[in-house]
Amino acid sequence: MKKKVAVVFGTRPEAIKMAPLVRALGDSTQLKPVVIATAQHREMLDQVLQIFAIKPDYDLDLMRPNQTLPDLTSRLITSLDEIIKKSAPSAMLVQGDTTSVLAASLVSFYNNIPVGHVEAGLRTNNMRNPFPEEMNRVVTGRLAHWHFAPTQSSAQNLLDEQVPSDAVFMTGNTVIDALFDARQHADKVPLSVADGRRMILVTTHRRENFGEPLKRICAAILELLDRNPTLDVLFPVHPNPNVSSVVRDVLGNHPRVDLCAPLDYLSFIAAMEAAHVILSDSGGVQEEAPALGKPVLVLREETERPEAVSFGVADLVGTNTARIVEKVQRLLTDPAAYREMARGASPYGDGLAARRIVEILEDALTGDGSGAAGSPTFASSGQRA
Ligand code: UD1
Ligand code: UDP
Repeated sequence: MKKKVAVVFGTRPEAIKMAPLVRALGDSTQLKPVVIATAQHREMLDQVLQIFAIKPDYDLDLMRPNQTLPDLTSRLITSLDEIIKKSAPSAMLVQGDTTSVLAASLVSFYNNIPVGHVEAGLRTNNMRNPFPEEMNRVVTGRLAHWHFAPTQSSAQNLLDEQVPSDAVFMTGNTVIDALFDARQHADKVPLSVADGRRMILVTTHRRENFGEPLKRICAAILELLDRNPTLDVLFPVHPNPNVSSVVRDVLGNHPRVDLCAPLDYLSFIAAMEAAHVILSDSGGVQEEAPALGKPVLVLREETERPEAVSFGVADLVGTNTARIVEKVQRLLTDPAAYREMARGASPYGDGLAARRIVEILEDALTGDGSGAAGSPTFASSGQRA
């Protein structure tokens, strides 16, 4: 009989990054996935479920408008405990650093079920930045049984925290598996930029950027549009009211800014491919843009994803208006600087992460030693994917 592995996720990026694992577990001869969607996000989660044709075994439907961290956390813990007792999996997988991840890891610990942490070991070493994600992943790191680190430096972060080396596996990030899979279908999405024009794609949602930082980002966008008459901005607006109210207020009336609803994943990949430059505070976008050969300017003061910055294909620009304008302006006017940042790299994965993770779990849960040796460890490299 196949052993059950609970795959828990709640938000859009977790679902994208777990989709390859749901598929790989579905293909396993020894394991099977039990998909538990907390639905910390609702519409944005549903977009991903539809694209990857995932039908959760359990959908907790927990999202509430403008939810607070304590309220969401307490509801997650209570609901997940009930489902875990009911489904009795042999192991649980969580991904990343959201409130769903923290709650699921804790519930798993209370129920004595081993947890595998996908995208383990990312750190800024600043508990307040990103908030609350750094705390979520540090605590999950203490609770996890298997640590699936995407890169050498994330694996090293765990070893530096005294996580036993036989519990740390460098697998690459499943975001690249998902991207390679979905990209094959993204060209069916009609999205083009007219001749002689250039498009900048923008996304923001981080709590640290609520309020003044977000206003400074929007001010930079206005100034860039003023300076560049052939520039257009595509800005899929995160539905969090703390984001959408500011963005719509400042940019809502500009004729060259398209403030659209969150794009489904295929349309967003098409938008990344059509963009000249991407401005984002997103974790996933920092990983995808380099693999697509698109310069990404990171609208944050610190990042737990230093690899693309050190390869020179991402730049940590923060939220100062003048600095953002200067950095984008350079990419718009200096072809050599642009080429250097647009050369492409895939430091976060090679598309085989989910397979590696499932082989490790098969090996651990069923004792079939043939697995883990099958797909060699991901070797982080600066080469284009
Ligand atoms: C959450 C995660 C963050 C992750 C991000 C991905 C936490 C604390 N934050 O942030 O780490 O990077 O998701 O996007 O776990 N909303 C909707 N529809 C949706 C989704 C959100 O209306 O489909 C609105 C709701 O009003 C909701 C609010 O956005 O209450 C905030 O959602 P929440 O998941 O708490 O935080 P995010 O800012 O989305
Ligand atoms: N994304 C999407 N539609 C959008 C914006 C982003 O499908 O309109 C995808 C993007 O490709 C990436 C993920 O959502 O895979 C990133 O999610 P988000 O920025 O919300 O969260 P983070 O990665 O910062 O946790």
